[in-house]
Amino acid sequence: MTKELVIVRPDDWHLHLRDKDLLPITVNESAKSFARAIIMPNLIPPITKLIDAKNYKKRIMNALKPNLSFNPLMTLYLTEETEPTEVKEGFLSGVISAVKLYPAGATTNSQSGVRNFEKIKPILETMAEIGCPLCIHGEVTDTKIDIFDREKVFINTVLDKIRTDYPTLKVIMEHITTKDAVDYVFSGNENLAATVTTHHLSINRNDLLSGGIRPHFYCLPVVKREIHRLALLEAVVSGSPKFFLGTDSAPHLDHDKESSCGCAGCFTATNTLEILAHIFEEQKALDKLELFTSINGAKFYGKKINSDKIKLIKKNKPVRFPEKISTPNGEITIFKPKFETKWQVQV
Ligand code: DOR
Ligand code: ZN
Repeated sequence: MTKELVIVRPDDWHLHLRDKDLLPITVNESAKSFARAIIMPNLIPPITKLIDAKNYKKRIMNALKPNLSFNPLMTLYLTEETEPTEVKEGFLSGVISAVKLYPAGATTNSQSGVRNFEKIKPILETMAEIGCPLCIHGEVTDTKIDIFDREKVFINTVLDKIRTDYPTLKVIMEHITTKDAVDYVFSGNENLAATVTTHHLSINRNDLLSGGIRPHFYCLPVVKREIHRLALLEAVVSGSPKFFLGTDSAPHLDHDKESSCGCAGCFTATNTLEILAHIFEEQKALDKLELFTSINGAKFYGKKINSDKIKLIKKNKPVRFPEKISTPNGEITIFKPKFETKWQVQV
């Protein structure tokens, strides 16, 4: 039996498009399903100035196919040198929609991030005043802390202090991976929310490590135990306005991932909605998919809900996606969970 689902066109509240040769691929893969996306600023060099954000946006728009529409919502990469006036001007003029905080060394191209959280207090104060959201990569970088505990320790030692000092600051805890984060977000006020990725809803650490290392399941924060994945699932199907989709789709060339020191990131832009429809249906929560993909994020960011819709169709047999996408620099593997989906976005 064919089933159809029509929902408001989704947004992706956390996306890596990269730059140069990759843009014509990444931008159009996302634009097929998404109306808008919060664009991550961790390029080399990072997007730390408004002029960089403006120019990057131009490059993104130039890469967009004429038959597609897409609105990239730009962010600034927070460093210890970022000026509050830059953030204020950028947010109030609409050039940026948020600021991204990377603890230095937490992930890909985060070396210019924050080491001393005391130094960013004037920025956080300004952001709280003007209502500019702060997107946080929530992991400590202390190598003595076990990698599976870094999110939980970040909540207790860094995030909670920031939120106590600035209760009116809008904070998005990005790509949460643990029950601890779910509980923390539920217990916070209306200024705290979280994005959840497609891959963290689909796989656990056994999928990454048991029976062989699967580099295309390696991302940061690293996937955790099954109880944590189940907590994420429960949160997103609850319909709570505090949880919304941020794919963290983060392409790396296969030869960089399939290496003795492989890069972190899963490329999920191509098939995210199909995977999510499968997961939500399995949870008997297809009616909550639209909240997660298309409503909650827009409301938290204070943006209009998209006016157009997309249709997902459930086929009689599993939908096959290409395994890889070719780029001028090599191939990129498309994320493929261990289950198959019969859902397909109608383009
Ligand atoms: O897996 C990840 N990849 N996590 C991040 O935080 C960054 C991203 C990237 O840029 O590759
Ligand atoms: Zn990311």
